[in-house]
Amino acid sequence: MADSEAFIPALYKPAGLLPIARHRDALLYTIEKSPVTILVGQTGSGKTTQLPQYLEQAGWCKDGKIIAPRRVAATTVAKRVADEMRCQLGQKVGYSIRFEDVTSASTKIKFLTDGLLLREALVDPLLSKYSVIMVDEAHERSLSSDVLLGVLKKIRKRRPELRIVVSSATLQAETFLQFFARGYADEADVNAVGSIVSIEGRAFPVNTHYLSDPCEDYLERAVRTVFDIHLTEPVGDILIFLTGRSDIDTALQMIADRALSLSADAEKILALPLYAGLTTEEQMYVFEAAPEKYRKVICATNIAEASVTIDGIVYVIDCGFVKLRAYNPDTGIETLSATPVSKASATQRTGRAGRTKAGKCYRLYTETAYDMLPAATVPEIQRSNLAPTILQLKALGIDNIVRFDFLTPPPAELLTRALELLYTLGALDDYAKLTQPLGNRMAELALEPMLAKCLLCATDFGCLSEMLSIAAMTTLQGNVWFTHDSKKQEETAKRKFAVEEGDHLTLLNVYESFVTKGKKDAKWCQQHYLNFKSMSRAVSIRNQLRRYLERFGIAVSETLNTSQDVLKAGGMPMHERLRRCLTSGYFAQAARMQADGTFRLVNDATTVLHAHPSSLMFNRKAEWVIFTEVMGMGEKTFVRDVTKIERGWLVEYAPSYYRLNS
Ligand code: CDP
Ligand code: MG
Repeated sequence: MADSEAFIPALYKPAGLLPIARHRDALLYTIEKSPVTILVGQTGSGKTTQLPQYLEQAGWCKDGKIIAPRRVAATTVAKRVADEMRCQLGQKVGYSIRFEDVTSASTKIKFLTDGLLLREALVDPLLSKYSVIMVDEAHERSLSSDVLLGVLKKIRKRRPELRIVVSSATLQAETFLQFFARGYADEADVNAVGSIVSIEGRAFPVNTHYLSDPCEDYLERAVRTVFDIHLTEPVGDILIFLTGRSDIDTALQMIADRALSLSADAEKILALPLYAGLTTEEQMYVFEAAPEKYRKVICATNIAEASVTIDGIVYVIDCGFVKLRAYNPDTGIETLSATPVSKASATQRTGRAGRTKAGKCYRLYTETAYDMLPAATVPEIQRSNLAPTILQLKALGIDNIVRFDFLTPPPAELLTRALELLYTLGALDDYAKLTQPLGNRMAELALEPMLAKCLLCATDFGCLSEMLSIAAMTTLQGNVWFTHDSKKQEETAKRKFAVEEGDHLTLLNVYESFVTKGKKDAKWCQQHYLNFKSMSRAVSIRNQLRRYLERFGIAVSETLNTSQDVLKAGGMPMHERLRRCLTSGYFAQAARMQADGTFRLVNDATTVLHAHPSSLMFNRKAEWVIFTEVMGMGEKTFVRDVTKIERGWLVEYAPSYYRLNS
């Protein structure tokens, strides 16, 4: 065996056998000829991993230009393509996700999220580095991919040589093509604008099973189904669709517990997680074949629905839910909550079982429930807080948001609400123009507007260094705490860092303890149940945020003084500076604690909010608070990362938002 093959097992033949391979020449011809190509093909047919390679081989990167497909799982795909092309990740093939840029001057194929590509447009409005841009999985209709399509349509007018590829796993191809043709002189001649290429799938039949009665607890049911399959069905790996990391962690634990009762000579179970917050290495495990005498069970979020294809899956278990963003314009609150999937999603999930041979799909709901599911998921742009989007568009010089060419226009009340928020944050002026420098800088920071505001005005409060640490900790999409052991231990560990004023100051305390004591001492982290990797990542995120600020000319003088709570000039304790600073950004997410311990929003008495069990405010007394994270679970809405504030500050920092009525 040649050396290279030792670590890249059997990669080349399968690529040639992928459904897309037979369309290689036709695809290259179409892309050469027409500005827009809509590529339709089932998940797993090779769109994401193969097309960029075809383009590179065909010379589309000759002038140092880079092909820029984008997707959710940029990391694993980039790794895979780098392996197939036998190059080191970050060289010819690289990826770029928020706070992590693994590319170099020699990168020709770059995988990045659509959000990041939009940010690149701030510096390079025509995205002139790129010769081909592939908007991958456009059918998922994420907020940023919708916006990106609108921006690309504009760029196309100025860059006729640019090639746009829109890939979709479903048959909405016409919608995309019409969109690109709409408003052009040659509107009638859609063919002049673009073409559709379909890759026929090779799906095997999948037998779908429903529950006869609804189940109370889909996690319990999912785990039971895993063992039913394991004990009675022939070989083949299992893919379980769950809603998020906490579901997945619980399911893995339950599977591990129950696996202990398998008889010693039975096949074993190798259960693995798959969600976006994992590191690239952790994500790569799921692609490796299970060792002999093992059945692989992957507990995944929606990421496995279309973004990631894992070979060898024969059984799919679908819990029937997905975590979706939902924005309520009346309350101004955006929640991420488990919502029943659409029929399209359910079908897509089922299809994951039939890629290499006939499979089975177990839907953990009744057939009646399925019949009542909506046909498709509502595009994100119609159910999101649009403040970040508007900020981004304004920064791109698109001032008239209402006239912007959206694939699907957002509801007017969402726009109004977002404009109002941005105005109060000081990002927009009375003419709805981006303010200088605040609004512009808010758009450039890779943070949501409320947090960006906190950072950009932290200097005024004399707490920039501390606010940077808090921003890094709240932005961190990884577990701060190690949850392998019991929840109890985690609670005890957390209590050691607890700060009376709330979760943000507690996070700051954790961060500062880590950099002073735990950074070079993994043992210290272990003792305190802190996740060393996540904490190191927080340090790196903080450094990047600091570099952004320095580029704006905002100097950061590093201090480590909250533990002593040093009084600075003006006599205001650090915790108050921070709490005021947080209020100036998060005033729209303010609430008051009721006698029963729940919270009500300031200007909406109907919504009941609960402190999340992981919050310091859980079972504690407070009066006025702001919160920076909202989660829906079941019927309830939980707030996490909560900090005590004073009512008067709301009026002080957001006078136009909170008109005094007392
Ligand atoms: O984009 P599309 O869904 O059409 O397919 P793809 O993601 O390009 O996947 C093509 C093939 O590559 C599938 O058979 C995957 O199993 C394989 N693949 C893999 O083994 N490891 C990865 N990290 C990515 C893809
Ligand atoms: Mg794909």
